Order: sequence, then C-alpha cells, then structure tokens
Amino acid sequence: MPAITAVAPGKVILFGEHAVVYGRPAIAVPVSQVRARAVVTAEPRRPSGALRIQAPDVDLDATLDDLPSDQPLASTVRGVLAALGITRPPACTLRITSTIPVASGLGSGAAVTIALMRALAAFLGQPLPDERISDLAYEVEKLYHGMPSGIDNTVITYAVPVFFIRGQPIQRLRVGAPFTLVIGDTGVSSPTALAVSEVRSQWQANPSAYESLFDAMGSIARSARQAIETGQPQSLGPWMDENHDLLRQLGVSSPELDRLVEAARAASALGAKLSGGGRGGNMIALVEPLAAQAVAAALLSHGAARAIITTVKESGN
Ligand code: PMV
Repeated sequence: MPAITAVAPGKVILFGEHAVVYGRPAIAVPVSQVRARAVVTAEPRRPSGALRIQAPDVDLDATLDDLPSDQPLASTVRGVLAALGITRPPACTLRITSTIPVASGLGSGAAVTIALMRALAAFLGQPLPDERISDLAYEVEKLYHGMPSGIDNTVITYAVPVFFIRGQPIQRLRVGAPFTLVIGDTGVSSPTALAVSEVRSQWQANPSAYESLFDAMGSIARSARQAIETGQPQSLGPWMDENHDLLRQLGVSSPELDRLVEAARAASALGAKLSGGGRGGNMIALVEPLAAQAVAAALLSHGAARAIITTVKESGN
C-alpha cells in the first residue's frame, strides 16, 4: 500500500483577533508558503492496532498507546478513529513535519492536526468531509488553546479567506482584487492560551472598557470585509494601523512587534499590525506588490527572524 500524504497551510488573522473570542467578527487568510505535512505508511509486519507517531520537530517518537489522552497528536488520532468507528486500525506509522513556526500566530497547531486527520482518514479508506475535519480539529484546538474561537481550524481546513464569527457556519470572503502582505516573525514564541487568558482577566476586571475595544475591532473587521469584497484592498492600511493600536490597548503587543510594525510603515507599507495572539509571534504589513521585497528587507534588518511575502486571493494562495 503506498504512503498517504496530506498537507495543510498556515494562516494569518487580518483583523479581529482576540475580539473574535468575544463574538465579534474576524478575517483570516491561509498562507501556503508554510505548511504542515502528514505521511501515513502501512506497517504490514506489525500487529493491527499498532500505531506509531513520529514528529521529529518536537522530538516525539512513540506508540499511540504510550501517549496520554491530552497529548494533541494522540488526541487527534483517537478523534479520527472514534469518528470513523474504528477500534483496531491496520498498523501504520504517522509522520508529521511542519515548516510553520510554533506558537507564533500562524496556526501551526491547527495545521498539524488537520494534515494528520486528513492523511489518517484517507489511509483508513474513509476521507472525512471538511465540516467534520474542522469540527474535530476544534476539539483538539481546545487542548492547545483552552478556549479557542474556532477561527484557526476553520480557515486552515477550508484554505480560503474567511469572515468568521464564533459559532456560525463558515463565510467565505470574496476577494475583489488580490493584495500582497509581508509577514514578519519576531522570533519570540508566545503561546496563544496565555495571551487569551490574560485578556480574559483584564476583561473581567474592566468589562466595559474591554467590550468597547472589542466593538471597535469588530466594526473594523466589517469595514475591511467590504473593502476586500469590493476590490479596494488599499484602503485596508489605515484599518490595520487602527487595529494594531487597539491591540496595544488590549495589552497584547510587545516591543518586538511594535518595532517591526514601525519598520514596515517606515519602509512604505500601507498599514501594519500584529497578527494572532500577540506578545510575540508574527506581524503583517499590507504592501504594494513592488514594495514587498523592500519591506521584507526592512523587517529583517530590524530583527525579524524571517519574512514571508504572500498574495491574498479568493481561492487561497
Ligand atoms: O493562533 P493565534 O495565535 O493566531 O490566535 C488565534 C487568535 C485569537 O483570537 C487570539 C484566539 C482565538 O481562539 O481566536
């Protein structure tokens, strides 16, 4: 039996991170320049039920039975087996690799989960529809994030730009005219769960101020949707700047993120903001296509660990 491979892209949040946890809309797009890959290989000489999981990026090489239930990869595998009603799968090795930096707002956890689910379900001869994949991935996201909004598993499963509201079915975003982003990585890893739980404590201490910030972010996401759908992406720049300012007020920026945001603006970006949970991880800048290289170079010279140029299109990128 040939090995089965599945891949899943990274993602960035264009508008509305954190506010999306509190019911406001957010916009996210896939980033195919980075991706997670899962390969399932049959092991016909081993007894059925023997599943081995290898994830060299995190130094994991173990059998499924040896992994605890809250280990995200093990939980992913068990979730697929339960969904398919399979108790003794044919013996196999599941190998997971990823070029998506971990804990950096690019959706590495969800991408690994989704690639693994798709490869395993296909290997077992029962590919799962996108809706099931996204729902199952959401359950695993809870292990990584605690209280995720569901935006990561949605945008990564469907691999298209989305306008997302927690608890609602996916809304694909029309992209009237493609536009270019430069993504800059601070190199500082920052677990989303921590940023999300700190925002929650602040919100509990001062609900009205935080609700106003979330409202402002939500209305930016709605305006941005219109601009994207009507083919006027250049008007997104000022909204990105404003969204970054609101995220700073929320307390989730960092000196490294602010430095890269400033550097991008000084190098002619039309707007820039942090993306994802914040405190570290990545920022994004909207650029004219011809300025992309110069903005990427400015980010690198201001301390970015790496810069990715990506074009947002309706069909994903
Ligand atoms: O995975 P990240 O870092 O892009 O964070 C997801 C965005 C948050 O709004 C901060 C959390 C969530 O679950 O939506």
